[in-house]
Amino acid sequence: MWGGRFERPPAPEFWRINRSFPFDHRLLHFDFEGSIAWARALGRARVLNGREERAVVRALREVRAATDRNPRHVYRSLDRFEDVHSYVEAAVVEKAGEAGKKLHTGRSRNDQVALDLRMYVVNECDGARGRLRALIASILKNARRHFGVVLPAYTHLQRAQPVLLSHLWLAYVETLFRDLDRFQAVRKTALVLPLGSGACAGSGFPIDRARLAKDLGFAAVSKNSLDAVGDRDFAVEFLSAGALLMMHLSRMAEDLILYSTAEFGFVELDDPVTSGSSLMPQKKNPDALELVRGKTGRAFGNLQRLLVVMKALPLAYDKDMQEDKEAVFDTSDTIALSLDGMNAVVRSVRIDADRTREAASTGFQNATECADYLVRKGLPFRTAHEVVGRLVLHAIGKGVALDELPFSEFERFSPVFKKDIHRALSVDRCVASRSVPGGTAPQYVRKAIEDAERRLADDR
Ligand code: ARG
Repeated sequence: MWGGRFERPPAPEFWRINRSFPFDHRLLHFDFEGSIAWARALGRARVLNGREERAVVRALREVRAATDRNPRHVYRSLDRFEDVHSYVEAAVVEKAGEAGKKLHTGRSRNDQVALDLRMYVVNECDGARGRLRALIASILKNARRHFGVVLPAYTHLQRAQPVLLSHLWLAYVETLFRDLDRFQAVRKTALVLPLGSGACAGSGFPIDRARLAKDLGFAAVSKNSLDAVGDRDFAVEFLSAGALLMMHLSRMAEDLILYSTAEFGFVELDDPVTSGSSLMPQKKNPDALELVRGKTGRAFGNLQRLLVVMKALPLAYDKDMQEDKEAVFDTSDTIALSLDGMNAVVRSVRIDADRTREAASTGFQNATECADYLVRKGLPFRTAHEVVGRLVLHAIGKGVALDELPFSEFERFSPVFKKDIHRALSVDRCVASRSVPGGTAPQYVRKAIEDAERRLADDR
């Protein structure tokens, strides 16, 4: 492709480090699409005459159909071509002859690869968003299915206050809705057309770039050719959105792993999403969740990897940037696997509602409600906090729960306590009192489920 000024062929060591076809063949579909649009643009610019344009487009379509039919042809060629762009161009020249040799007019692999990767990222954003929507739908189903189940909420991993399990499911839903928005934003960033920038200075032929953008479904045309071939912000943003998503999934995985231990016993994971031990016959291990948690390392690494590749690169294109693709591919694969894996776990999760209620009823999780009770009867909160703190200490000394203390003992700590105090301290009352938008009171949680379902239905 570029052999003219060289007197000797590439060294095998150079060939191995230089080529990217073994991985950038994943851009093949987009290279065909971009090349077809480019051939049409060359036709409009009168670089190709009508016959040549038709021949080149036909060749591109035929080669595409052939590789779709027989992907092995691509795999067999991985050693023979430098990258996906040279593979496609060679195939077109082979089919369309002299006309094929005109396809690369006014174009560089620099604007071509930027285009392909942008199209790939847009496609992956759509894929991630579809999988995110499916996961959110499964979680919302659980929020409905488990309505009324209470469990402890933890801060510092210490039992804090009782909440509805549905409220917890909705917490994950919120994180995932942010991811949904984030991938939408990345998609928008990626939809700026670099094609027409040439190697770095702009195409030497009168390409109608606005029309080209329209043909390829891009929303805008890049404004500076040096920037356009050197810009990988969209890829960094994709990796960043992927890293954040994986951070969310890993936290959710961690919660479910903890809750499935004998120590918690809140959750039972289903056989099809767990595995056994080769040694210990009794074991059922949460591997899917552990792998989601573990694969988060890849997503973080890939973000770091591209940031470091891009750091301090001079304008415009540098070959270092060939290293962008594997990071992007790996994060795509990782988020797809993890979203699907998490979805399978969520769909099959079983809850021990007696156990979660019992856990919510111990550890003085009604102490805040007890203080709030005193406040509602007129005590300043700081005073109420002090009173209940001493009451808790007293109960710990006796080895009982707050609501197991007789009324006479409540009275000794404050005359503000009335006979209704025991009822006020029940788990259900604690939950019902958190009655603000965003709180765990059942009527707000029910509304939050409905809002989330509507939001999901509206997201397209
Ligand atoms: N394989 C290259 C990449 O992935 C394509 C662009 C090569 N450009 C060049 N001037 N050698 O970045």
